[in-house]
Amino acid sequence: MRIRVVAERPWAVSADVLAVPIVPGGGPVDGAVAELDRRLDGALGDLQRIGEVDGAAYHGTLLRASGEVGAAWVLTVGTGEPGVFGAVAAYRFGASVVRRLHGRHVARIALWLGGLPPGSLRGEQVAMLVARGACEGTYDPARLYRTRTDEAPDPDELVLVTGDADVAALQMAAERGATIADGARIARDLANRASNDVSPEVLADAATDLARAHDLAIDVIGPDRATGLGMGMFMAVGRGSDNPPRLIVLRNGPDGATDGRGRLLGLIGKGVTFDSGGISIKPADRMEEMKMDKTGACTVIAAIVTAKRLAPDMPLLALAPAVENMPGPHSTRPGDIVRALNGKSVEIQNTDAEGRLILGDALTYAERLGATHLVDVATLTGAVERAFGKLVTGAFGTPQDWFDAVVAAGARQGERYSQVPLVDDYLTDMESWYADLQNAGPSEGSLVKSGLFLREFVTRPWVHLDIGGSAYLRRATDWAPRGATGVAHATLVELALEGAAGA
Ligand code: BES
Ligand code: MN
Ligand code: ZN
Repeated sequence: MRIRVVAERPWAVSADVLAVPIVPGGGPVDGAVAELDRRLDGALGDLQRIGEVDGAAYHGTLLRASGEVGAAWVLTVGTGEPGVFGAVAAYRFGASVVRRLHGRHVARIALWLGGLPPGSLRGEQVAMLVARGACEGTYDPARLYRTRTDEAPDPDELVLVTGDADVAALQMAAERGATIADGARIARDLANRASNDVSPEVLADAATDLARAHDLAIDVIGPDRATGLGMGMFMAVGRGSDNPPRLIVLRNGPDGATDGRGRLLGLIGKGVTFDSGGISIKPADRMEEMKMDKTGACTVIAAIVTAKRLAPDMPLLALAPAVENMPGPHSTRPGDIVRALNGKSVEIQNTDAEGRLILGDALTYAERLGATHLVDVATLTGAVERAFGKLVTGAFGTPQDWFDAVVAAGARQGERYSQVPLVDDYLTDMESWYADLQNAGPSEGSLVKSGLFLREFVTRPWVHLDIGGSAYLRRATDWAPRGATGVAHATLVELALEGAAGA
């Protein structure tokens, strides 16, 4: 979808559909809504009077325009309460507009930015978020495998209509939003693919193709090298599967290079292409969702591609340990003891706590490659969804100022995090009789414990994002389809770009 920012009155733009934000209880914004209503023969006012149009968040109503409006149709979309209109709402608004028109034959959508509540955001940020939302709004995972060919094509142009004079700055911001949306699509497509389609090897091949296309360095570490390096935790997980593990390492910039802030950011993503639980096998109910257990890996692979497009010279590292966790005669057993890359001995008390094993070794390896700051993304626990649901990501980190920097980057992109404390008292539950530590313990505080385990494998500023709830939706919303949400991709890109020259 092309994007064009124009400084115009909303009724002056020619388009198939003009999207008009509706603020609850909101009167005319500088008289423009009233003027639009007049040009629509009072239809907006009538729809408000019968309660069809009330500004409820992301609710859309489509009506025929009149000869006095440049668009053929008008789509009203509620903004939700203006007091809470921020980055989250701006993104969802853009996505809802486009999703409401999904399957309709609409080539050009004009979206009136000037009608959005003023809120606390800068104009450029609104343009970026609305454009990102709108571009992500065409995403439809059903296209991955379905064979139907009679679908309406996606819109080919989005016209953002602003009263603002600085069209060039808004255009740049909107294009940045569109580029981030492209990356989210890469992450979502990979994550949504089935486990018989995406093995660790296939994920590595996809990363290799992306690396070639975007001029990133790639190193794919197979079982022999991983074993030779001493990645005992990483190697323990994939043993039960016929699909051998791959540690995917993507890099931008030469060895030893740091970014504009003197750091080398390392992004690490959990890539369990299917998590059956292994010998500690999961119950059948919803086990099919565990194809999504590779989402963290898909997210960091996409993020380094997006960062490369937006800041070609900025050094950055992405690691995606990819394995399939299956039961079988060669599987790791509960009670097995392995040696981690950092030298610690680990008793695998529960083979279903596999994410922390592969991430631990990948975190150590990222430090060896020179990462000064670490962020890992993982569908690590079911507990995080019970705690925060699907709309908030659980986050851990140390030191606090690095944690705050990651969350602040997320806030600018409309992604929400809630901090989980790393309470040392629970460490005693992770003690093993035989080894330095064990990978799971009593279920009390299991979310906290998952973070404590990972912390054993880092020595540098580190943040862990548990997307176990937020990675995918079980049913569609106004702003997103069922399946992978692309969560955290924009946060990682935003964070990485802090290190771009001139940022
Ligand atoms: N991949 C799962 C976590 C998960 C479950 C994510 C459901 C999304 C939805 C992870 O590997 C896992 O199995 N975690 C266990 C840890 C436990 C054995 C300590 C869990 O959360 O139950
Ligand atoms: Mn598991
Ligand atoms: Zn898992």
